[in-house]
Amino acid sequence: MVKICCIGAGYVGGPTMAVIALKCPEIQVAVVDIASARINAWNSDHLPIYEPGLDDVVKQCRGKNLHFSTDVEKHVAEADIVFVSVNTPTKTQGLGAGKAADLTYWESAARMIGDVSKSDKIVVEKSTVPVKTAEAIEKILTHNRKGINFTILSNPEFLAEGTAIKDLYNPDRVLIGGRETPEGAKAIQTLRDVYAHWVPIDKILCTNLWSAELSKLAANAFLAQRISSVNAMSALCEATGADVSQVSHAIGTDSRIGPKFLNASVGFGGSCFQKDILNLVYICECNGLPEVATYWKQVIKVNDYQKTRFVNRVVSSMFNTVSGKKIAILGFAFKKDTGDTRETPAIDVCKKFDWDHPAHLQPSSPTSIKTVSVVWDAYEATKDAHGICIMTEWDEFKKLDYQKVYDNMQKPAFVFDGRNIVEVEKLRKIGFIVYSIGKPLDSWLKDMPAVA
Ligand code: UDX
Ligand code: UDX
Ligand code: ADP
Repeated sequence: MVKICCIGAGYVGGPTMAVIALKCPEIQVAVVDIASARINAWNSDHLPIYEPGLDDVVKQCRGKNLHFSTDVEKHVAEADIVFVSVNTPTKTQGLGAGKAADLTYWESAARMIGDVSKSDKIVVEKSTVPVKTAEAIEKILTHNRKGINFTILSNPEFLAEGTAIKDLYNPDRVLIGGRETPEGAKAIQTLRDVYAHWVPIDKILCTNLWSAELSKLAANAFLAQRISSVNAMSALCEATGADVSQVSHAIGTDSRIGPKFLNASVGFGGSCFQKDILNLVYICECNGLPEVATYWKQVIKVNDYQKTRFVNRVVSSMFNTVSGKKIAILGFAFKKDTGDTRETPAIDVCKKFDWDHPAHLQPSSPTSIKTVSVVWDAYEATKDAHGICIMTEWDEFKKLDYQKVYDNMQKPAFVFDGRNIVEVEKLRKIGFIVYSIGKPLDSWLKDMPAVA
């Protein structure tokens, strides 16, 4: 019987292991974490992360073949396969600050695996890491060896938040990278057998270690690049009178381009895209490829530009200041169907406004600040407001009674739609002044150009 242990009970480790446990009833799965509050939450009725369908999966397996524990060393020692899914933030100081991945958590997990292991293990990189991390981990583990064999695999996760369970049930592909040696091939086979419980075999791709590591960074960079490309187009649409939704649809019907991931927005957010591109840029620079680094850096620059552009539109159309005005921010998560606000564009937008006391605005702890309050009800949020900024595409914001909203707002009433979810013409008929990313501007916005 195979035993699996996953170090790190976060957004990736938790849902992934829950689905493995559900699909492989004969495998014992332990998810361990040093954060006891997180483990307690996983063992309670209130899971630490919100993912549609996750509660159900956890309920079916927890206490049977799925266990959440803080006893990291015990479960690692007992496991045949150890997944490492710890956080890899961007370094904040020292060599590579602001770009390179901080591998402190990874290194300490690897050293711990080396210390406590008494039997052979397959060690699987699950969290996104810089290319060649596997080599570093191998070195740490083999230097600790006491006649124990460690085989390293890279098995990056491609799930997106909000659709994690769906993505795990039905992945476009599972990618497993390993050494091209007999031990490497055997380890790949073992992990492939786990996924083969529910993933069609032709969707399980096996590559060398470095291809698997790089593919994860490349996939996120390509996805982010599509968003920056369509966002760059949105600026041109506003300048020319084209409609970005029509342009997206028109180009997306080209089968070589495809229709997905072409929604113009106030900018991409989330814990992955920016971090992974910065990491990719750093790797390019370290490998003497400054042109390639510059190419990818531009994806982030356009994303920053898009957020600034949005703020400038808001401020310029509201007579060049939002100071002293009430702005309702509808949505704060980086996208709908998640409670995650890591790297959310809403934070950057709020910080860029010329509020009275911008330095005091801390969206992560808004209740302690006088000028910011958090409410659950969109009607309450918009009451007496001068303007509305839609930051997340939650379905409920599409269905609001905008006549009611309008009646309770200050006039002129503004809607700034950073997600293109409102019906622009309908709202204009009600009386709103509406700005929607990449859509033709009305005369008010044309008369109040956003000058940086
Ligand atoms: C292109 C567009 O495809 C077509 O829709 C438009 O109407 C005119 O421009 P074309 O220039 O004939 O058509 O050739 P295309 O097949 O798009 O290739 C353009 C260049 O890209 C070629 O040099 C091709 O070798 C290169 N290419 C294409 C690559 O290097 N890699 C690829 O994956 C695809
Ligand atoms: C992403 C990748 O999709 C996933 O494969 C990887 O494993 C982790 O990173 P995630 O960050 O959860 O997943 O969300 P995603 O759906 O990719 O959205 C990222 C950001 O792009 C969000 O802020 C979203 O609103 C934005 N976005 C997405 C757009 O602005 N336009 C689009 O068309 C698509
Ligand atoms: P991701 O989005 O990649 O899943 P998270 O930050 O949500 O990342 O989760 C990573 C988890 O890893 C955190 O809960 C953190 O406490 C845990 N972690 C970090 N280092 C260790 C370690 N050495 N041992 C056990 N857990 C760890």
